[in-house]
Amino acid sequence: MRDKLNKIKDDFLAGLEKVKDKQALFGLEKKYLGRRGELATILRGLASLGEAERKDIGGLANEIKREFQGRISAFRSRLENQESGREFIDVTSPGRKVEGGHLHPVTLVRNDLEDLFSSMGFMVLDGPELESDFYNFTALNIPPYHPARDTQDTFYVDLPGRDNAGELVMRTHTSPMQVRAMRKYGAPLRCIVPGRVFRAEATDAVHEHTFEQMEGLMVGENISLANLIAVMKKLIAGIFKREIETRVRPGYFPFVEPGIELDIKCTICGGRGCPACKHGGWLELLPAGMVHPKVLAYGNIDPEKYSGFAFGLGLTRMAMMRYGIDDIRLFNSGDLRFLEQF
Ligand code: DAH
Repeated sequence: MRDKLNKIKDDFLAGLEKVKDKQALFGLEKKYLGRRGELATILRGLASLGEAERKDIGGLANEIKREFQGRISAFRSRLENQESGREFIDVTSPGRKVEGGHLHPVTLVRNDLEDLFSSMGFMVLDGPELESDFYNFTALNIPPYHPARDTQDTFYVDLPGRDNAGELVMRTHTSPMQVRAMRKYGAPLRCIVPGRVFRAEATDAVHEHTFEQMEGLMVGENISLANLIAVMKKLIAGIFKREIETRVRPGYFPFVEPGIELDIKCTICGGRGCPACKHGGWLELLPAGMVHPKVLAYGNIDPEKYSGFAFGLGLTRMAMMRYGIDDIRLFNSGDLRFLEQF
């Protein structure tokens, strides 16, 4: 009996969904609530049941009858309102869930770093993604035809109608903002520059043509390598929120002298060796160094009076390590199964 009632209810609801006008609604009402309707037939049959079952089934049948009546009259007034052009708001209908967006994992890391560096007095600057060859290379002590240009092969952009072949590049790093910032603000100076950079790369699990970096620059009197290492350690503690083993070794970049590389123990395998650390147990995290005197001079800052340090952090790489992501291509994939985890 119960099953039969539930079936009647399902049929009624399905029927109600198809109703388009008053006539159809009336037909439905008659079919289920009329004197010879489905519910009436059941209610009439109650007399032949035992007392307990009669109570049980009778209660359910009456409950369903009231529900049908309520739905039919709500539907009828909706149809009437539509006819008369008045808007109908069914306050009983369930709400529609609005999916909220959220921040991209690289943005989460970037926000944390901006907070950390702001608290140490660094400005947060933005720079052009389409950069001049001069700022991207020459002003960083990478003159035309210097082999260091080959390591950062990129996209040269010709503007239509202008004879500017070779003048504009999609910036290969955020470093060009070093000289731009020096020229604009002079010394002393503290800034970070997060942003997108571009390389003509064959993509694989650890290489992308478009990724994010964050440049750091501090210029002042008596700035030394010790200051640089202290700031880098703060940075790593701020990002990983735990103690991470680091090592410093020499590195070469034309715009710093001396140049260093700061490595951290691989956060994915803990130093045992895995594809993410190319089985070496260490990850190159932060290339850095003391700003080359020629670069200071390009920035109109007197290298006799001032010194400075700079670093170039791979923000995308940092997000990979923080969240244990083993394929860089996921970041720009737009794949919600990936993005929804953050
Ligand atoms: N711009 C370099 C790159 O993208 C990274 C870099 C190295 C930045 C040393 C620096 C630095 O500021 O001091 O490969």
